[in-house]
This record gives sequence, C-alpha cells and structure tokens, in this order.
Amino acid sequence: MSVRRLAQEQPAGFAFTPENQAWAEKEIAKYPQGRQASAVIALLWRAQKQNDYWLPRAAIEQVARMLDMPFIRALEVATFYTMFNLEPVGRHYVQLCGTTPCMLRGAEEIKQVCRDRIGAERHVTADGEFSWNEVECLGACCNAPMVQINDDYYEDLTRENFAALLDDLSAGRPVKVGSQIGRFGSEPVGGKLTALTSFYGEDGRGAPPANENTGVETAAAHAAEEEAHIKALLANLPKDATPQQKADAVGARPPGLEKARDGAADDLQRIKGVGPVNERNLHSLGVYHFDQIAGWSREQIRWVGTYLSFPGRIDREQWLAQAETIAHGGKGVKDEADA
Ligand code: FES
Repeated sequence: MSVRRLAQEQPAGFAFTPENQAWAEKEIAKYPQGRQASAVIALLWRAQKQNDYWLPRAAIEQVARMLDMPFIRALEVATFYTMFNLEPVGRHYVQLCGTTPCMLRGAEEIKQVCRDRIGAERHVTADGEFSWNEVECLGACCNAPMVQINDDYYEDLTRENFAALLDDLSAGRPVKVGSQIGRFGSEPVGGKLTALTSFYGEDGRGAPPANENTGVETAAAHAAEEEAHIKALLANLPKDATPQQKADAVGARPPGLEKARDGAADDLQRIKGVGPVNERNLHSLGVYHFDQIAGWSREQIRWVGTYLSFPGRIDREQWLAQAETIAHGGKGVKDEADA
C-alpha cells in the first residue's frame, strides 16, 4: 500500500454537529466499559461524511479524544483504510474499481475517461465538482466495470455511458444508479437466465456424469417433476390419442438417421435403461448412435420419453449423461455394473 499522509492544508478545527454528536455518543455506548475505542471506524466515517468526504487532522484528533485513545492510534486507523480520504475530494467523488474483473471488463477505458474529464488521480477539478481515485474491488464484480460515486454504485460502464453520466452529474441532471445498460440485478447480459431453468439446461447438457452416484437422487427428483409436467400437458388430449400425438403434444421429435452411420449402429444397450425393446424402438426413430442421444434437447427428451411411454425415465436413468460418457470413450453405468 502506498504511504498515505494528511493533507498539507488543514482547517483550524473540527466539531461534530449536534446531531452527529448525539449519534456518536449512542454509538460509543454500544461498547462495554473500556472498549470504547472499538467505535473508532464508525466515528471516523461519520466525521468524514460530515466534512465533505475527507478527514482533516482535527477530526481525527476529536475522535481520539472522544474515545479516550492516543491520537496516533486513531491516525493509524485513518491512514490504513483507504475508505478514509485524507485530503479534499470533489463534490462527486469517483472511486474507480481497478481490480481484475473490472480491469478485464474495461476499467482501463473508464480510467481514461476520468483522466480526460477530471484530470490526474486525486486531483479536484477547479470548480470542486469532481475527483477520482482507483480503489480495490467494491464487490460488484458481476456488473463490472463499475465505479462508486459518493454513496452510489454505477455499473456496466462503457466509455460512452460513463462520460454521459459525468455530463449529467455535472449539469445537475438526474442520473440512474446501478446498471447503466438496463440490467436489473446481475443476470446475464443480453437476456434472462436460461441455464438453470431446467435440470440439465435447455439443451439437455450439463447432466451429472452417469457414474456419479451423488447425482441420482437429484435426477430422480427432476424426473418426477418432468413426469408431472408432461402429465399436465397431456391432460387435455383424448384418451385414445396415439403415442405420436401424445409425444407431439409435449415436445419435438429429434431428427433421425435413415440408417446407422457406416452401417454399424452403436450398442445402445450399454445405456442402463435401454434394453432390446427400447433399442428397437430407438432404431425405428432413426436413433442408432450415442452422440445422437447425448445431443437431445429438453423438448426432444420429452418427445422420446412420451413416445416410448415412459415420461421422466430418460432423466431418471440419465440416458444423456451415459450416452455422452460412452460417446467419448468412457464407461456407462451398465458397463460399470457388468464389469
Ligand atoms: S473487481 Fe470491480 S467490483 Fe469487484
């Protein structure tokens, strides 16, 4: 950490306003007798806020006196924590996060805007409106790059929207706190979250490995959910609906092959849950290979499961995960059991 010194020019004195004095006394009273010094950070922070976001020597002395601690102890705290400013800052005080996630997302560009519009780090503009300095992570990395201006966070910054933000602040126009690109929280940029809306993701991927026992309970729970969902979708179909009509009502048929590639179908019975009957049925749908099954989407899983009259079972038995493992040269659950 760089050496932090008190400002050269100091005001003659400092006193808490009556309101802040009352607040400080209440704060000090929270601590047991003899431990009043524990309130040092809270009091220094209040003093800084009262004094336009910077701590003069007189304020540190005053806090030390109130807490009955040596001045040097209070000074140590004030100079150690970078949240305490030891020299005047602008009315709009910009703390720019330059830590790795923000840096990777463009903090350098934001820094350049600060240099161009405000000047060197810690310089206060002639009208007293702005100053900036770089700080470590402010805990809003998901919406990087970001800055804190006084008490508010401004996130998802670009060179353009940050420059516009400074213009608005300078002109006294209202500004939008938080994301500058319309994100409500930390959801993915460009759309709502889709990865966690289904157990394996919308494309059926992300299932636990077939030989990982710990996934079974969760797979069973998901299969039960799927079953209930499909049952609800089928509720309005006539009782004599064909398997194809039922399957079409809940999903989409996966594309099939006319025949096995190179004339050799994979041994689909290596997937636990696929016996001779199901293998034959899969062949009738043009499904001959593990990679075909591994690539099914959620809609296609629903279609096949319903067509084969066992909705939910593909999830419960984790066919996709097994197929993916075997397609990449690994062992399926059945292989493990047979070994
Ligand atoms: S790295 Fe910038 S907020 Fe965390």
